[in-house]
Amino acid sequence: MAMSLKRPQLEENLTAEKRHKIKRKKAPWWHSDIIYQVYPRSFCDSSGDGTGDLKGIASKADYLKELGVGTVWLSPIFSSPMADFGYDVANFTAIEPLFGTMDDFDALRAALHDRGLRLVLDFVPNHSSDEHEWFVKSRRKEEPYADYYIWADPKGFDEEGQPIPPNNWLSVFRGPAWTWAEERQQFYFHQFLAKQPDLNFRNQRVRDEMKNILKFWLDKGIDGFRIDAIKHLFEVADLSQDEPVAKNSGVEDPMDYGCLSHPFTVNQPETFEVVKEWRDIMDQYPEKLMMVEMWDRDIGEVMKYYGSDSVPLADFPFNFLLIDSFRNRSDLSGAALKDALDLWMDNMPEGKWPNWVLGNHDNGRVGSRFGEDLIDALNMLVLLLPGTPVTYYGEEIGMVDATVSWEETQDPQGRHYGREKYLEHSRDPARTPMQWDSSAFAGFTKGKSTWLPVNKNYKTLNVQAQSRADTSHLKIYKELARLRKREPFAGGRTAYPVVTREAFSVLRYLEGYESYLLVMNTSEEELEVDLHQHANMELPPTAEVVLRSVTDTAEATVPGSEVNLSELKLVAGEGLLLRFAEF
Ligand code: NOJ
Repeated sequence: MAMSLKRPQLEENLTAEKRHKIKRKKAPWWHSDIIYQVYPRSFCDSSGDGTGDLKGIASKADYLKELGVGTVWLSPIFSSPMADFGYDVANFTAIEPLFGTMDDFDALRAALHDRGLRLVLDFVPNHSSDEHEWFVKSRRKEEPYADYYIWADPKGFDEEGQPIPPNNWLSVFRGPAWTWAEERQQFYFHQFLAKQPDLNFRNQRVRDEMKNILKFWLDKGIDGFRIDAIKHLFEVADLSQDEPVAKNSGVEDPMDYGCLSHPFTVNQPETFEVVKEWRDIMDQYPEKLMMVEMWDRDIGEVMKYYGSDSVPLADFPFNFLLIDSFRNRSDLSGAALKDALDLWMDNMPEGKWPNWVLGNHDNGRVGSRFGEDLIDALNMLVLLLPGTPVTYYGEEIGMVDATVSWEETQDPQGRHYGREKYLEHSRDPARTPMQWDSSAFAGFTKGKSTWLPVNKNYKTLNVQAQSRADTSHLKIYKELARLRKREPFAGGRTAYPVVTREAFSVLRYLEGYESYLLVMNTSEEELEVDLHQHANMELPPTAEVVLRSVTDTAEATVPGSEVNLSELKLVAGEGLLLRFAEF
């Protein structure tokens, strides 16, 4: 079917497309892979102690393969006292016994590689655990470790003789970022918990240690790293400066991190030198992926981590705009979605590759943030856009936040805010055990308890039930994983023909192939939309339904049916994937 498109919009799209077009022949593997984040404590427990482990993950390798994801990223699996559930590392090259042994790790890597899946590890360079040997020795001023961390003398002493921290810097988790070490009679700096002292990257030895750790795991055959808390890597060298109070933050609690702005503790220029050193190491191995965790309101700061053509840095900083731009359903509209997508694409440096993140272990689950009715539509969106989707475990079955009482709360961020406020800050609700089936503890463990409670909805919301059902989130997800390999998605162009308050649409097309049109109803009401009336380009009169959200049970949209684009009906939050003949 030949289409004529209204010029201005098309040209705009094509220019953008051209700008970001990567020659398919050369595309690295992560351009086509879905990255699947496993939170190891919560995926599958083989030992029966109530906490997930490496053998458990390996036992699900077939599941991951059948799901259609290409790469598994594991949150930290290294030796840790678990003050921040693995993001406090006591030995960067040892496996945490709770998760298993190095042999278990090797077996997991082999199980994934044997199935053509890749394995990416979390690298946590900003800090170690206070139980790391380096810190224990540093606290004793033992060389060469004395200067491995950020140590500072007190600014003075208060009336009771207590030491006063060198400045007002705050921890991301609330409260002062300085803790007094009796043994050394100095403060040490920690951007996160007191049990997570910040490493001193101005010390060449520390830099070398961290590089050797990267090499250690690369030599073990892993496929890349997700790098934690990158913007926190450096602080200014002059510790005498207070950070200014943030303007209009709306934060009243003076101990809350949001109360200050952070010119001296994040995104320091030296960070990029270190990332470049890591890039160089990774480039000594064939095709290793580097993703960096970078939260920042300033999109320009985020984009710096891509580097440039002459100085490439990360393959991508995570794109958190689908989390950050809308905290709840009322912020979400077709137009707002378009703005969020554009914000990334328009700011991304030339020749770089996008990525889309709907959720992770630090945020509420996507169905709880926006409403469960949107789960399929959002999976359709991130899996069908050009770019690498990052799926948080359980998103494929539409897991939602669980209720975790104060007594059951484990997350230090939640606990720091106390009984009254923990619900606003705890990350536990999104970290509960994976729901495999309707047996005890959702099939996550054969033990008698779990480290966090299993969501009460597990009897009906689980992998087994969704595999058996005629339609389910899981079946839609698998179909999307299959579809995204087709040419119009893998190498095609993108346009957004209809964007209104309630409706959003994405067109993927490529000469010589069928075109696909995803239409989303972002509202909480049923929507009847005339796509022709709103479209900024010509669309065919009718199209065939390929996929629809589980919530839509209408006769007219059964997959395979022909629908009229002038009177398209979508239930609240629905995603409808349509197909029509070539443009
Ligand atoms: C970011 C991680 O995603 C989060 O879970 C952790 O608490 C902090 N970094 C500190 O490592």
